[in-house]
Amino acid sequence: MTKINAAITGIHAYVPNYVLSNEELEKMVDTNDEWIMTRTGIRERRILKGEDQGTSIMGIEAVKGLMEKTNTNPEDVDLLICSTVTPDMLFPATANVISDGAGIKNAFSFDMNAACSGFLYALATASQFIETGRYKKVIVVGADKMSSIVDYEDRTTCILFGDGAGAVLMEPTEEEVGLIDSEMKSDGSGEQHLHMKAGGSRRPPSHETVNAKEHFVYQEGAAVFKFAVSRMADIAEEVVNRNGLTGDDIAWLVPHQANKRIIDATAKRIGIDEDKVMMVIEKYGNTTNATIPLCLWEYEPQLKKGDNLILAAFGGGFTWGSIYIKWAYDA
Ligand code: UT7
Repeated sequence: MTKINAAITGIHAYVPNYVLSNEELEKMVDTNDEWIMTRTGIRERRILKGEDQGTSIMGIEAVKGLMEKTNTNPEDVDLLICSTVTPDMLFPATANVISDGAGIKNAFSFDMNAACSGFLYALATASQFIETGRYKKVIVVGADKMSSIVDYEDRTTCILFGDGAGAVLMEPTEEEVGLIDSEMKSDGSGEQHLHMKAGGSRRPPSHETVNAKEHFVYQEGAAVFKFAVSRMADIAEEVVNRNGLTGDDIAWLVPHQANKRIIDATAKRIGIDEDKVMMVIEKYGNTTNATIPLCLWEYEPQLKKGDNLILAAFGGGFTWGSIYIKWAYDA
């Protein structure tokens, strides 16, 4: 029997209009453009403004655009997975809200939380549903409204994050393209360095948790940096080596966008030049689950069928992963 591969056959994204620049942040906290640019590579990020505007709003825009672009009938979508750490509500799943808002009626939908590695976990999961032959059209959304969990009085985190959403369509193919290999890892002992203290079942919301600012991202930046820089490079290198690839064979590195220094270290380890690294951190910052689809969306016009892409991410949990994709279409 011919092997069925799961291929990305379309990509679309949505970012809110509001641009939060380093200059504006300088007026909010004790920071400066020079520090932010040299330590992170971020110049600006997008923020979703307005009452009752959750992550799903951005996801719906991305998915509607994706279906229009790929001529997909919403009724033909079998499954929608949304990776996010900022769901509209703890339940129901934001994936269901997105499906409903995008007119997807015949699919099952669920959320996935693997922090910044969520989009890779979701892609790897989606591909399994396709490779079995059971499902034909699966949408994977990576979306976060990080501004909803960021303390804009904390200079160590508020300069990092932004809002956005991206979505890909995955379909079966018998050609040698699509998701070729993947490796995912997690280490729960990393919880202490990056988490949100309250709002879950362990520490439900109360006046006390709100007053103590426990509903915001808590990050020990330097500790996370140390793990991120080695784990992301290690796992990308593992996937590259076991597929017999060298830097010259790789058309693009598609890294999670948390810090330009982490991205540069990963590129160096797998031997690829800066001009082959997708980089959108300067304009969008760290959009958590949306960074990788935002990269693919921005660089889609440059992608060619057969291009070898190495995706890599590291995030809270800790979680990390890498995926090797042979791109399936010419833009
Ligand atoms: O996406 C999920 C995974 N997350 C990551 O991968 C993030 C990993 N971590 C990082 O990217 C970096 O650790 C940060 C960008 C968060 C911080 O950069 P750093 O080079 O590790 O700085 P640091 O935390 O060691 O702080 C160095 C100094 C400190 O001052 P002192 O103690 O040396 O006087 C901070 O207080 O920089 C200070 N600082 C700032 N100064 C100006 C921290 N934030 C700021 C700021 N502006 N915004």
